[in-house]
Amino acid sequence: MMKSIAITLLLLIAFENNTSFGYIIDPGPQIKATNGEVWPRPKFEQKTPKYFVIDPDNFDFSVIGRTCDILEDAVVRYKNIIKNTVKSILRSTLTNYHYHNKPITQITINLTSPCEFMPNLTMDEWYYLSGSGNILAHSIWGILRGLETYSQLITPANNGLLKIRDVRIRDSPRYPHRGLLLDTSRHFMEMKTIYDVLDGMAYNKLNVFHWHIVDDHSFPYQSIKYPELSEKGAYLPDMVYSQNDVASVIEYARLRGIRVIAEFDVPGHTRSWGNSHPELLTECGEPYKGKLGPLDPISEESYKFMENFIEEIVQVFPDKYMHLGGDEVGFECWDSNSTIRNYTKANNLTYTHLQKKFMEKVTRMATNNSVNPIVWQEAMVENVNMPEGTVVQVWLGDWRKLFSEFTNAGHHVLLSECWYLDHLSTGGDWLKYYRCEPENFNGTNEQKKLVLGGEACMWSEVVNNNNVVQRIFPRVSATAERLWSQEFIRDEIDAKRRLEEHTCRMILRGIPAQPPTGPGIC
Ligand SMILES: *[C@@H]1O[C@H](CO)[C@@H](O)[C@H](O)[C@H]1NC(C)=O
Ligand SMILES: *[C@@H]1O[C@H](CO)[C@@H](O)[C@H](O)[C@H]1NC(C)=O
Ligand SMILES: *[C@@H]1O[C@H](CO)[C@@H](O)[C@H](O)[C@H]1NC(C)=O
Ligand SMILES: *[C@@H]1O[C@H](CO)[C@@H](O)[C@H](O)[C@H]1NC(C)=O
Ligand SMILES: *[C@@H]1O[C@H](CO)[C@@H](O)[C@H](O)[C@H]1NC(C)=O
Ligand SMILES: *[C@@H]1O[C@H](CO)[C@@H](O)[C@H](O)[C@H]1NC(C)=O
Ligand SMILES: *[C@@H]1O[C@H](CO)[C@@H](O)[C@H](O)[C@H]1NC(C)=O
Repeated sequence: MMKSIAITLLLLIAFENNTSFGYIIDPGPQIKATNGEVWPRPKFEQKTPKYFVIDPDNFDFSVIGRTCDILEDAVVRYKNIIKNTVKSILRSTLTNYHYHNKPITQITINLTSPCEFMPNLTMDEWYYLSGSGNILAHSIWGILRGLETYSQLITPANNGLLKIRDVRIRDSPRYPHRGLLLDTSRHFMEMKTIYDVLDGMAYNKLNVFHWHIVDDHSFPYQSIKYPELSEKGAYLPDMVYSQNDVASVIEYARLRGIRVIAEFDVPGHTRSWGNSHPELLTECGEPYKGKLGPLDPISEESYKFMENFIEEIVQVFPDKYMHLGGDEVGFECWDSNSTIRNYTKANNLTYTHLQKKFMEKVTRMATNNSVNPIVWQEAMVENVNMPEGTVVQVWLGDWRKLFSEFTNAGHHVLLSECWYLDHLSTGGDWLKYYRCEPENFNGTNEQKKLVLGGEACMWSEVVNNNNVVQRIFPRVSATAERLWSQEFIRDEIDAKRRLEEHTCRMILRGIPAQPPTGPGIC
């Protein structure tokens, strides 16, 4: 009996890891990488059996349409990336393929409309390309995505040359909001780390960097109006993001077609604000006397402060969305403070009412500055009156039920519940992210249209500069394909093989990605 349970377990584990059956294992990589396949999978791909040769020392981009700084910068980046592809270990002998006689010496880029300056929610990411060396798009963002795809199709041959299949691809994303949240409060992330993350995002066609920049533990954002917030709230004086740093992140992201959405989470998750502004937080009473709780919801001062602060944030971060948090507001401190307790009694309110009032007010401060608020699900307490355009991000509990509810009330939603990158199961645990389908909830077509996309979340309690990039990549690639590719792209055998290649590719490009699935060569 015991023995058969043990064997069943062993088989289950074997299935789970997709290793060979039992102890019978073939030598070589567990998953054989593809060669010149694209991640995330494009919408329409028409393949021919023929290939073109590219000499890495004798090709160039030829810009035949509009151009701008974004395009010029991208051309330099992708030229280097393509040249560097000769170093990939995924080489194959040229003799195994059929070739067009003429090698590709020019890759033409035809942007048909003037560049937009900043990416935004409605950015057009459509592009067309042919392996013969043409990239066409009607917006600069489509050109960026097309260059990424083109570079992924190229693989090395064994004689120092490169090859690309004669394909035609027409591609555009399934969802407009494909994000990654990075928490820079629990551990401070260096600029180099943030740049690496943004590069990796571009390689996965992710387009929103959700910067969870401050939280309870530290306040690294150097404010213009309130510099004391980081002076006293950062872990160390040099663990701050100056205005220059913030502008550099926004610029680096812009050049890659990535939006930067800042989160200033209120009224909870604000303990570090209290190092310089204790008057904004609630002084707890017994049994928590001596401690500070969430922002004080009944003082005019905290609202005045938020108004001034939000005015600054919307100037510093150009995106038309900002995140105001609203999650995990503990009521125990409010309840221990007799001023607040008496106020709620006198006005026949609950603490949920206080939270609701607070979020209704601060979200309107955002809309008063022409910026749409994003909030975590807890802000949507019963009968809350959020301004039009508020987006709800779902991270906890039965997300299907919550998606039904929120979209039924007409709200746009973002999914994160199944994409927590800090929740490790095994090393190669990306399939659980891959299997999460954002429209798998009960709702009408109209409701489904309110799904803007989603975000993978990299909370930083147990990651720092030494392991955060490895933890994100390639696990976030699963989320990236789910949000970019068509719903029916879910062949896991195929995905494993492509992700193996994509991981090699990211490593070659300087992203220290961890192995996705098991024994392998990258
Ligand atoms: C760029 O593409 C557009 C649309 O297909 C086409 O009309 C135009 O002729 C192309 N430009 C060049 C220089 O080929
Ligand atoms: C995005 O930018 C384009 C070009 O500037 C603009 O036409 C469009 O209205 C913007 N969309 C949003 C949602 O701001
Ligand atoms: C309740 O908190 C507010 C804000 O910190 C503080 O001004 C007030 O004194 C506190 N009330 C009591 C009874 O401690
Ligand atoms: C709160 O109400 C109680 C009972 O009415 C009273 O004793 C106490 O002084 C009040 N506290 C404050 C801070 O107003
Ligand atoms: C207090 O509020 C509750 C529900 O929010 C309501 O049922 C009750 O009538 C209110 N009491 C007073 C005295 O207004
Ligand atoms: C938003 O602006 C309106 C009109 O100026 C003003 O009445 C309202 O108080 C503002 N709301 C907030 C929360 O600042
Ligand atoms: C949708 O609703 C049906 C009927 O109420 C239920 O059986 C099913 O589990 C629901 N599906 C999801 C994904 O919640």
